[in-house]
Amino acid sequence: MQGSYGRAAAFAALAISVMAIAAAQCASAQPADSADAKVEHGKAIYAEKCSHCHGPGMLNAGTITPDLRKFPDDHDRFVTTVKQGKNNRMPPWGDILNDDDIANLWAYISSRRSQ
Ligand code: HEC
Repeated sequence: MQGSYGRAAAFAALAISVMAIAAAQCASAQPADSADAKVEHGKAIYAEKCSHCHGPGMLNAGTITPDLRKFPDDHDRFVTTVKQGKNNRMPPWGDILNDDDIANLWAYISSRRSQ
């Protein structure tokens, strides 16, 4: 008798601690618009829309695309280039990407800046 009561109590204690861990993980989950989430989203957009020209690591050696890790901390210039393109070589994205997408790209590129 004692043995089975002990197992039940142990099971109950285990169940309670599992629920406590799950609740703690929920409480610490990042909100969707946190800085990390923006960088992650920007990284995904970059991989899909930009990396075939600019390279997977923001540098495409031997091509005319600039090293984006060296792009200056100039948000307005970034948004203008991405929306309108540049010199007929960088294509415009204003009809394809919305402001959130571009903000997430900026978060990602800013997070990898090397200067
Ligand atoms: C078809 C190839 C191509 C794609 C796709 C492309 N780019 Fe470019 N990008 C270029 C070229 C070429 C340049 C250099 C333009 C120049 O200076 O004449 C450039 C330049 C830039 C610059 C520097 C502009 C400046 O003011 O100096 C930024 C920033 C940039 N691209 C961001 C992006 C982002 C973000 C994406 C994805 C949404 C992207 N590019 C997709 C080809 C591309």
